[in-house]
Amino acid sequence: MPMGVADSYRYWGEKNTVFVKSSKGCTITDADDQTFVDFRLAYGPIILGYRDARVDQEVIQAITERGTMSGFSTDLDSDVIELVKQMCPNIEKMRFANSGTEAVIGAVRTARGFTGRNKIVVVEGGFHGLYDEMMWKSDVDNWDAESGEAPEVAAFGSGIPEASREHLETVPLNCFEAIDEVFARVGGDIAAIVIEPIMGNCGSIASSQEYMQKLRDLCDATGTLLIIDEVKTGFRVAKGGAQELYGIHADLTTYAKAMGNGYPVAAFGGRADVMNVIRSSNGGVTHGGTYTANMIALSAAKATLTILNNSDAYASINKAGADIQKVLAAVFTKHGIEHRFAGPDSMFGIHFGDLVPTNYRDWKKTDSDLYTEFAMNLIKHGVMLEPDSREPWFICEAHKNVDLGWLESTADRAMADAIASRVG
Ligand SMILES: Cc1ncc(COP(=O)(O)O)c(C=O)c1O
Repeated sequence: MPMGVADSYRYWGEKNTVFVKSSKGCTITDADDQTFVDFRLAYGPIILGYRDARVDQEVIQAITERGTMSGFSTDLDSDVIELVKQMCPNIEKMRFANSGTEAVIGAVRTARGFTGRNKIVVVEGGFHGLYDEMMWKSDVDNWDAESGEAPEVAAFGSGIPEASREHLETVPLNCFEAIDEVFARVGGDIAAIVIEPIMGNCGSIASSQEYMQKLRDLCDATGTLLIIDEVKTGFRVAKGGAQELYGIHADLTTYAKAMGNGYPVAAFGGRADVMNVIRSSNGGVTHGGTYTANMIALSAAKATLTILNNSDAYASINKAGADIQKVLAAVFTKHGIEHRFAGPDSMFGIHFGDLVPTNYRDWKKTDSDLYTEFAMNLIKHGVMLEPDSREPWFICEAHKNVDLGWLESTADRAMADAIASRVG
């Protein structure tokens, strides 16, 4: 494999690349038999815990009784959609996909098909999957914050044609002037705004309530569709995702990750009149795929959503997240580190500095190097997380069993060493 890994983001260098042997609850064990309490949770899908028997048993039963896939519809399709509709009442129609990327592709194509327009507006720091059009990022890493210029928009790497950004517009989060400027310039051709209101790929930096309302109003006034990308936040931050927290609803929503507690399932859906442009004939929007709505994915989604809908899992997850932040805050305060938490308890970002960033440019003002040093020390001592403050801490139900005393002493040691190495 190039770089020795199946996904380039898994390469952490010759010495630090992690190979996992097993997982259970909120822990993973690596090939060297070190066990970690995991706050990375595979970039978010694990919402109950690894190897949750309640989900796994449903999947085993489904595949032994029904098979894995048939290339035809099953009653699992409507069972899962019924559950989604109970939890997210604004979803009128839905289609399945196999990954967050595929769900976004489906939603964007549907929005273009419905509106007959081309352009898509995204927010700096947002991430919407690995397909060419969405693989343009605001390059804040190489940006001089003092320059007064906007960060450059750069491709995620080579192999991405310049033409793929032809219809993409990028604006800073929470900036009313920037979104107004884009609509004044090309509003007649904007099919959709795609936004993750709590940016799960940018330290849970969040849209203000007023900004979300502004986007909703702009879309309503111009016939543009609001696509809320809930690949990370969906079924995680609340039953009804970020939209429940804001009380503002999308025309189309994408889901993946927490929907299946680690099984690869995704979906997009929303307004019936919009989704009805998906048709197999007469110029309709095409959607489908060999593995779409396979029975492994859908039985996992059915079991996961049933538990999330009917148990007190969210209360446990939110309490665990709040308790963990309290412990970390005490450690940071003890060491005199200014810090701010961003986002909800089930998916919180940590920013070293004296402000909660309100957009990706603000993130540059935080002490992300200290965070990385702290995180690398945590990993050494058995706490797994992404050593980049743009990736939040993910909490699952099984984190209710974390020994907070152990976490506090581990974090204390990790921060002491981070400060010492800085001074040294
Ligand atoms: C908000 C958001 N959208 C889309 C994606 C892409 O999902 P996937 O990696 O399943 O293709 C991600 C992945 O992290 C994401 O966080």
